[in-house]
Amino acid sequence: MATLEEIVTPLKTLWRFDYDSNVKALRDLYELAKKEQWNAATDVPWELETDPARVGTLDMGGEDPILEMDFIKELPEDKRVDLAKRRSAWQLSQFLHGEQGAMLCAGQLVETVPDMDGKFYASTQVIDEARHVEVFHRYVKRLDRVYPIMPNLKALLNAVLGAELWQMKCVGMQVIAESLAMGSFKMMKKGTGDELLRQIVELTAQDEARHVSYGLIYMKEELPKMAEDERNAVEDFALAGVGLLAGPDNEAALGAPLLQMMGEVGIDVDVAVAEMAAKLATPEARASRFNPFQEYVVPQLKRIDLITERTAPGYRAMGLEV
Ligand SMILES: [Fe+2]
Ligand SMILES: [Fe+2]
Repeated sequence: MATLEEIVTPLKTLWRFDYDSNVKALRDLYELAKKEQWNAATDVPWELETDPARVGTLDMGGEDPILEMDFIKELPEDKRVDLAKRRSAWQLSQFLHGEQGAMLCAGQLVETVPDMDGKFYASTQVIDEARHVEVFHRYVKRLDRVYPIMPNLKALLNAVLGAELWQMKCVGMQVIAESLAMGSFKMMKKGTGDELLRQIVELTAQDEARHVSYGLIYMKEELPKMAEDERNAVEDFALAGVGLLAGPDNEAALGAPLLQMMGEVGIDVDVAVAEMAAKLATPEARASRFNPFQEYVVPQLKRIDLITERTAPGYRAMGLEV
C-alpha cells in the first residue's frame, strides 16, 4: 500500500472578521470540548496486557456468528487465536483509517464553515481525531499489523473530503460517519473482553458524541436556510454516502478480507463459504441481523429532517426503515 495518496479538493476557505459568538450551542460545545480533553499517551492504561482472543469484533451487535461455525470450532486453538487477532486488527484498522479521515475533515471544517463558533469547535475536533488516530494505531500494532482501508469506506471519506459544500462534509462526516463510529464504539465497549480496549473506546465514544452533536446542532440550524437545489444536493449526498456502506455491494466487500484471513490461518475457504452461506445468508438470518445504519444513522438523519419523500425510497431500497 502506498503510504501517501493525494486527492485534490475544491475547498473554499472562509475568513471571518467579526469574532463575537453567534451560535451559542456551538460555543457551549466548544467549552465542553476543552474540558473533556484527554491524553492518549497517559490517560490510557497501556501497562495492561492484551489477550488477543478476548478482544472481539463488532459483528451483529456483539454476538459473533462466525465463532459458532463448525469450521471454526474444529480449528486448533492456536489458529483460532491467530484468526481472532487478525479479524480484530482488520476491523480496528478500518476505524484507524476512519479516524484519519475525520481528522482531515475536521481540518477542512475549520477553514470552510462560516461561523467563528463553528471554526472554534472544529479546531477542538482536529486534536480529538489526532488522539484517536494515535490511540488506535498503538492498539492495532499490539494485535497484528495495520490492514488496508476497505474501498467503500475510502470512497465515503474521499467523497466527504472532496465535497463542494461544507454542509455535505458536515452531514457525511459529523452525522453519518460519526454516528456510526459512536454506536460502534459503544457496542465494542460492551462486547470486548479486553480492559484496555474497553477504556479506549469509552474515551473515544465520549468525543464522538460531541462530534455528532456538532453535526446535528449545526445542520438543524443551516439546512432550513439553504436554497432548494443545494439542499437537495445535500440530501442526495447523504443517501449516496449511506449507500456506500449500507448498500448491497458492501456485504461482498466485507466478506473478501475475512475469507483472505481465513485462508491465511489455514482454513479451507470453500468449506467456510459453504457453511456461512447456509447459516448466515438465509432470509431469517438476514432479517435478524443487527443493522448499525438503522440503529445509529437513520434516527440522526431524521432528526435533521434530511430524509425526505424524495430520498426515502432510496433508503428503503437498502432495506432501511425510514
Ligand atoms: Fe474519532
Ligand atoms: Fe469523531
